[in-house]
Amino acid sequence: MHSSILKSKLLDYLNKQFPQYVTVDELSQACACSKEFTQVILNTIISDGMPLEFSKNTCRLSNPIMSKSAISANLHTKYFGQEILLLQSTPSTNDHIKENMNQFNHGSLLLAHEQTVGKGRLGRAWSSPAGKTVSMSLLLKPIDQTLDYALLTQLAAASMIKALSHYVAATIKWPNDIIVKKRKVSGILTEAEYAGNQLEGIILGIGINTNLDYENIPEDIRDKASSLKILSQMVDPNLIISRFLNYFEHDYQDWITTHRTEPFLEICRKHSALIGQDFWIMTDKEKRKASIDGLDKEGALVITYLDTLETVHLKSTHYSIRSETGYL
Ligand code: BTN
Repeated sequence: MHSSILKSKLLDYLNKQFPQYVTVDELSQACACSKEFTQVILNTIISDGMPLEFSKNTCRLSNPIMSKSAISANLHTKYFGQEILLLQSTPSTNDHIKENMNQFNHGSLLLAHEQTVGKGRLGRAWSSPAGKTVSMSLLLKPIDQTLDYALLTQLAAASMIKALSHYVAATIKWPNDIIVKKRKVSGILTEAEYAGNQLEGIILGIGINTNLDYENIPEDIRDKASSLKILSQMVDPNLIISRFLNYFEHDYQDWITTHRTEPFLEICRKHSALIGQDFWIMTDKEKRKASIDGLDKEGALVITYLDTLETVHLKSTHYSIRSETGYL
């Protein structure tokens, strides 16, 4: 058996047994492979940095990890996630799709246990340690080129709020941060890919800090970022992914057929981490304080600058929004 197939079989078996410990004997029987080869593959899983823990002659995962079959088992979609590719590691799932565009179809989902150069908005880095985070990119190949696809970030944010509601009450820090207890637990990066001036596809990239421990959060962002495990409880990434895809496909189909933005924008308003408060609105050039008044029907953030009392609709996402004390 090819080692990458055996590796995913072993990981799936360990995942199904979670939180039980299993012996190498049991693993080798479950995967129909010699004990020696099973041990070799276990060693590569360790060197991949996957969360595997040992006790005497047994081992187990420290938390549930992503699995294609576990996602598919709870999926009720027609397109989204019907094709899933799960990689151990890639620089960035968004870039991986961009570079291999013709290998993916509308609704294909690319997942990675680890990203080595994960990207956030405004060129920021996004940290995705192996087996403790979700890095996913969904490819959309829209037929109707007249819709404002910048709205996809907010459509996805609304679906993510619903998917996470089974675990926690989350809010949205416009335009793309998902917040729990004033800390970012998930971020969305929507990128359009063009061939000439023809839209080839839109890549919806989502990172979720599912089961990170405190020491896995980079020191310089510990006041801003956290994980669902730290703030709430250990979570099953597969349930979050399938729930997200179920909600997102339904809401996406509704939007492209009716063109109604209110169903998802109303969720974004209701779950806003900003509306009704004052924040610093920052660009490269300036920093001004504003009251955050709402979200208009185009998904623009409506703010009033407190120095001039001028009301502005922020559509571009090239702003950083900060509170008096820091992130929120
Ligand atoms: C942000 O918070 O600014 C957006 C973070 C988006 C991270 C996800 S992880 C999957 C996909 N691949 C990337 O390189 N980035 C997105």
